[in-house]
Amino acid sequence: MPSRTCDANPLLNALREHTRDSHKALEARLPFFAPSFDTAAYRRLLEAYYGFHAPLQEQLHDYQGPERSKIPTLRRDLQALGLTQTDVEALPICQALPVIDGPPAALGVMYVLEGSTLGGQVLKRAMAERLGLDAENGCAFLDVYGPLTGSHWRSFLERLAHASVFPADQAVTVKAAVDTFRLFERWLAHCGVLLAR
Ligand code: HEM
Repeated sequence: MPSRTCDANPLLNALREHTRDSHKALEARLPFFAPSFDTAAYRRLLEAYYGFHAPLQEQLHDYQGPERSKIPTLRRDLQALGLTQTDVEALPICQALPVIDGPPAALGVMYVLEGSTLGGQVLKRAMAERLGLDAENGCAFLDVYGPLTGSHWRSFLERLAHASVFPADQAVTVKAAVDTFRLFERWLAHCGVLLAR
């Protein structure tokens, strides 16, 4: 995760600073690069991702446009990996989600989900090399925006740059981002798909 700062975007700087450790901790526990990681483990990991992302995206519905919806892609991947539509509907869904009670909190959650599309570029290449996975056979989610990754990220940063400047609102945004990392890690651990700490 980058440590660079951006003079024009103090909220981005605060988000980076306060989530750096959570990102490191989660990255260290994700099994993508573990020697034993195989397609079955990848499928279990993606199922767990679904249980967190699906309800969260629903809660973000009022705050972001449909171009940022990642769930249809996640469903397609799961089906490419062998799940039926009924299997997908029956996947366990996380109940302990970050609270989204207005635009400041929505921005914090979005920072985590949108930022993960950047790391996704690294993971997409690794999964292609290690497991032979691509957008057709189960690995579209890691590159969910395809060639639009950069422009979607830049437009999100614009939104952050124009967010409320009230310290109380900015604190809510940062807390929502930290909570999102923490609760995602807790959910993935609960699903048994993380490496031991
Ligand atoms: C093994 C797993 C992961 C790896 C290797 C990884 C790697 C990276 C890398 C290389 C970047 C910097 C990209 C750039 O600046 O172009 C990044 C940024 C980021 N990633 Fe991850 N990531 C992983 C998992 C995740 C997960 C699971 C999430 C959240 C659900 C996440 C959220 C973020 C965020 C919020 C940023 C920051 C964007 C910014 O402020 O510039 N990452 N990641």
